[in-house]
Amino acid sequence: MLKEVTATRFIAPLREGGSLPGLIEADDLGMYVLKFAGAGQGRKTLVAEVVCGELARRLGLRVPRLATVELDPVLGLGEPEQEVQQLLRSSGGTNLGMDFLSGALGFDPLASEVGSGEAGRIVWFDALVNNVDRSWRNPNMLRRRGELWLIDHGATMIWHHNWPGAAVSAARPYDASDHALNTFAPDVAAAAEELAPRITGELLAEVTAEIPDVWLAGEPGFDTPDELRQAYARPLLARAGTVHQRIRGLQGEQ
Ligand SMILES: Nc1ncnc2c1ncn2[C@@H]1O[C@H](COP(=O)(O)OP(=O)(O)OP(=O)(O)O)[C@@H](O)[C@H]1O
Ligand SMILES: [Mg+2]
Repeated sequence: MLKEVTATRFIAPLREGGSLPGLIEADDLGMYVLKFAGAGQGRKTLVAEVVCGELARRLGLRVPRLATVELDPVLGLGEPEQEVQQLLRSSGGTNLGMDFLSGALGFDPLASEVGSGEAGRIVWFDALVNNVDRSWRNPNMLRRRGELWLIDHGATMIWHHNWPGAAVSAARPYDASDHALNTFAPDVAAAAEELAPRITGELLAEVTAEIPDVWLAGEPGFDTPDELRQAYARPLLARAGTVHQRIRGLQGEQ
């Protein structure tokens, strides 16, 4: 189960992100990066954060701990900025929180060393979930004490925007040409050998069980949240064994 906390204070908007996440304090005295349920991208972004974040963590990649954050829209009343106030007011209920990594810096491919093993595991994982948001322009990785942390898995699993076409969409290649780790000789073959066997129905059931029901309810074509959880698991299970053969644009490749 994800930790459940309640927001007690809105601290500041985090301006870098396209979706305007916020920094909040919660009733456990922790600081969290909050992804708003009422943001334009909607609940599917939050579902993607949970599925990919919890899957990556179980594969041994570093992801800040996730939590659900209950938000009382009253917190927005004192907020001077119209845009932030609007987000707070439209996000009452369950939102997504991520441990704020204080002291972490944005990953800079020109100022960092990453081993080909780790680069391979991350590129392979991004191919599995079809992450289109880990480019050198916008790496969505943080560095702290020499360690790489993965954040921002909102733009993944494109197939969840069109479930009837999910199987076809999930069979497409993954373009890694702009990937932030492409210059670190990612060893995706080794990563596939190590990680693909770990993607089992059981693991995916455990991961999708972490998605709060409220973000799954009411999806057209699905009667229950659990049916939708299974739909999230299926393409990942189908891709795991062979996705490394469909990664395009790796440097050194013809
Ligand atoms: N857990 C964290 N700890 C510290 N800083 C964070 C954390 N999560 C996000 N940030 C900071 O906030 C910024 C925006 O976060 P994130 O990338 O998740 O938001 P986004 O709106 O989805 O971004 P974009 O669409 O621009 O990629 C990050 O680039 C990073 O600087
Ligand atoms: Mg981002």
